[in-house]
Amino acid sequence: MGDTVRVQTNANVALVKYWGKADEEANLPATGSLSISLAALTTTTLITRAKPGLRDQISLNGESSGPGVDRISSFLDRGRQIYPFMGPVKVESTNDFPTGAGLASSASGFAALAIGSNALFDMGLDGSDVSRLARLGSGSAARSVFGGFVAIELEGDGAAKPIEVDPNKWPLTVFIAVTDSAEKSVGSTDAMRRTADSSPFYQSWVDRHPADMAEALRSIEASDFDGLANVSVRSCLNMHATIMGSSPPIFYWNPGTLVVVQTVERWREEGRRVFYTIDAGPQVKVVCHRDDAHQCRDELHSLSGVRTVIESGIGGEPAVQWR
Ligand code: DP6
Repeated sequence: MGDTVRVQTNANVALVKYWGKADEEANLPATGSLSISLAALTTTTLITRAKPGLRDQISLNGESSGPGVDRISSFLDRGRQIYPFMGPVKVESTNDFPTGAGLASSASGFAALAIGSNALFDMGLDGSDVSRLARLGSGSAARSVFGGFVAIELEGDGAAKPIEVDPNKWPLTVFIAVTDSAEKSVGSTDAMRRTADSSPFYQSWVDRHPADMAEALRSIEASDFDGLANVSVRSCLNMHATIMGSSPPIFYWNPGTLVVVQTVERWREEGRRVFYTIDAGPQVKVVCHRDDAHQCRDELHSLSGVRTVIESGIGGEPAVQWR
């Protein structure tokens, strides 16, 4: 063990969405969620011990100030309130994909920080503790502590858990259709608060969530692609409808988003094993059975409004190396 640890984590995309908080201080979600990790969206974070008494030194994608850096700083301070032996650190974090554009950079970022702090300060936390620590940075980060399929169940201990899945039964390719790589208009935390305070659909969104979670878990267990596709699309559209119902309204979609959604709906009617999901931004994640991916790849690239397409498999466990 040395003074620097290098952690690589993957972003994840929720198929059953988390939207809303039961406790903002503890960042406890109001809904469960279920995600798959994305091998092609990676955060690499180097964390180095600094001398006691020094301030944290933080760089995010080469920048040493800005809202992303402030969030990392608050996360480290919050972590120290719970685990006082987390000393000052130097953090250098880089994403190989656009930050803050609805591609869940906060998920892989805070997961890497939680995993790295646990290793660097020999904190002895288990996977659930690390997941709960990551959750203080971002709710979705609790899931990026693990690879593959991951769930946070509401009745659980507030930590994410990996779901045992036979990879041969779920050979998935995810295409991320990037329709705009600018920062998102309203960050998730603020948007969730506004939704809960003002959307008339919020309570029914929260109420129907357990049924969606149960259906998704059943579909995964039964290797039922259509079942998982149906509940994922429903969860995505119900979440966005709830968000759009906020006052003032929040629109994460742009015209390119709708083009991709309508194209994938047509593919589904034609019988392709494919579906879509959208987070707090205009990008569309198109989830395909690997055997049907070749039919979707070229067409996606040529759709109007699609700037780039990132192709991803399902990510594995985070990697930790000592330097
Ligand atoms: C739409 O995890 O970014 O991606 O906990 O406030 O940081 P905070 O929110 P965040 O929200 C993710 C919302 C989502 C759905 C999901 O990933 O489950």
